[in-house]
Amino acid sequence: MVWDHVIKNGYIYSGTDFVKGNLYIKDGKIAAISENELEGETLKTTDANEQYVLPGFIDTHIHSRDPGATYKEDFYYSTQAAAAGGITSVFEMPNTNPPINNVENLQKQVGNLSPKAHVDFGIWGICLGDLNMKDLLPLHEAGVIGFKFFWGYAINSKTFQLMYNYKDGEEEVIPPLPDGEVYDIFQEVAKTGQTLAIHAENNELIQRLTKKVEESGRRDYEALLQCRPNLAEKLTIQTGIAMAKKTGTRLHILHISSEEGVQAVRQAQKEGYPITGETCPHFLFLSNEDYETVGPQMKVYPPVKYKKDQEELWQGIQDGTISIVCSDHAPHTEEEKDGDLWSIPAGMCGVETLAPLLLNAVSEGKITLNRACELLSENPAKQFGVYPQKGSLAVGTDADITIVDMNKEMVIKRENLHSKSKVTAFDQFPVKGVPTATIVRGITVMEEGQIVSKPIGQIIKSGKVD
Ligand code: DOR
Ligand code: ZN
Repeated sequence: MVWDHVIKNGYIYSGTDFVKGNLYIKDGKIAAISENELEGETLKTTDANEQYVLPGFIDTHIHSRDPGATYKEDFYYSTQAAAAGGITSVFEMPNTNPPINNVENLQKQVGNLSPKAHVDFGIWGICLGDLNMKDLLPLHEAGVIGFKFFWGYAINSKTFQLMYNYKDGEEEVIPPLPDGEVYDIFQEVAKTGQTLAIHAENNELIQRLTKKVEESGRRDYEALLQCRPNLAEKLTIQTGIAMAKKTGTRLHILHISSEEGVQAVRQAQKEGYPITGETCPHFLFLSNEDYETVGPQMKVYPPVKYKKDQEELWQGIQDGTISIVCSDHAPHTEEEKDGDLWSIPAGMCGVETLAPLLLNAVSEGKITLNRACELLSENPAKQFGVYPQKGSLAVGTDADITIVDMNKEMVIKRENLHSKSKVTAFDQFPVKGVPTATIVRGITVMEEGQIVSKPIGQIIKSGKVD
């Protein structure tokens, strides 16, 4: 036997445990796992040196701005950042220009992203209400990874950019959709059996509160939180859950940020509905108290809230309510973020710091390494219908592997990020637990923080979700 690549001497994740041994790769697939050395010639050997060998991490939520706003980021950069941070697959959000609103644009996007992809990738389809209701089933058949609905957002009708600081009555917009039209989206996506993922913030409440707060003249972070309160998230999540119960839609709540958000999802799950939820490192590691030191760079939507919200999010991770942690990588340029809190766009980098931050939580005893594998790998793959091809180290599946050194310490530094923009709230954040190799279908893409491969990423199409 000729083995293409052997990873020797690692603690290999078995799904429940870590087994000391060697992992053998042939034709991009995991061919064998053995405690002993197997016979045969090996073309490449990686010495894991007693580090952990984990199923490749998947970031289900990134915005690479490609095409449309590639001055902020593009797929060549974002997937280098992903690989540098131990991510073997990313799912690219559809708020590009053109948006991924029909099969033609999906196919063009596959052609656009493929030559730049350093890791494998899925592509989300966008729901724009009546503007593309008839395109949802064809997008499903063409292989989108799931459907995204920016509930509560106005979208520029020319550039398809999200309007971060929208005021009722502005021109050239696709305004936030009324609930009746949203209900049709639920019904349409239910027919596909795929996931409908929602941004959950109630626009009517936000508009009303913003008007009042702006009249008062306040422009501080606390005022921003008053305009986009927990209630805004709760109202939309509850409406979404009610619609999902009625239609049978597989509903996924994106970037949960509040105590009430976690509780609403937990309750629906208890009742037996297929509702899932994710959160992001900025909600787990930051709170309003960090605004003083971090400043406007930490503006994201939904906004980072209070310590009590952070605590409930951790609770949700521990009890299983939250099944995915992803980055919501949403870069803007430094100039764009360097302004008044109320006029700058929401979003920051995240794909490269996602895994180190979560591994640091393992080092601090907040979660186990097994739970980190579930949150970053197994659950994303299962929920989006690509398990066990992705998200597992089972023999016969894709050899997507993240090797991590749980003893390695590192300080996150903005200048070291691989993204075009370096906007992060985690500059100077110390972590213990660092990905040291990223392997995609047997090909080493990152070694000790360096990108060592040209783009080799391929499109992932969603399979059947049980
Ligand atoms: O902060 C955010 N940025 N929240 C979103 O919902 C969208 C994202 C972006 O695309 O900029
Ligand atoms: Zn997002």
